Amino acid sequence: KRVAVLISGRGSNMKALIEAARSPDYPAEIVGVLSNRAAAPGLQLAEQEGIATASVAQSRFPSRDMLEDTMTQILESWETDYVCLAGFMRILGEDFVERWAGRLINIHPSLLPAYKGLDTHDRAIADGAKEHGCSVHFVTPGLDEGPVIAKARVPVLPDDTPDILAARVLEQEHLIYPLALRDLIEGKVALPER
Ligand code: GRF
Repeated sequence: KRVAVLISGRGSNMKALIEAARSPDYPAEIVGVLSNRAAAPGLQLAEQEGIATASVAQSRFPSRDMLEDTMTQILESWETDYVCLAGFMRILGEDFVERWAGRLINIHPSLLPAYKGLDTHDRAIADGAKEHGCSVHFVTPGLDEGPVIAKARVPVLPDDTPDILAARVLEQEHLIYPLALRDLIEGKVALPER
């Protein structure tokens, strides 16, 4: 299957997906990386890997719908079957989400449904949470609300700062994202019909 990755920044989850997909028995190929920021370091990384890249800036489109139509056109030009959001820092509109429903997944740095949205590590520490982690989930119109495909848990340790905790979680993100994508492609999980 043909998978595209949407990023806004560093692209370490993108890289984990690219590396997993290199394995001959992995059921997917990463065919393109699309960013909403031309300066995203992950774009360069993808280029170095010989993967097609594109960037779309909201400032160049009169509306979100027009930007997202262009994103879909780019994804279609890559003959994309599945779309992975990996640090893609924009909320997607309903049309885009519907277009890719069941084939659009995201990784979020918390144990959903806890800590939807931003600054998850800061909030987990501030709450005195004992446990934290990450989740891969289907994207549905509500932010960070779609059904969860995979989770990984890590302990929150007494001396943790948000950065230390983020690094512990990120290591798990890189493990579960390729596994969750594989499960989706192999039909082991599916988005329930609504
Ligand atoms: C990750 O923590 C991801 O869960 C969150 O944003 C971060 C992106 O990191 N949504 P990277 O760009 O994959 O390195």
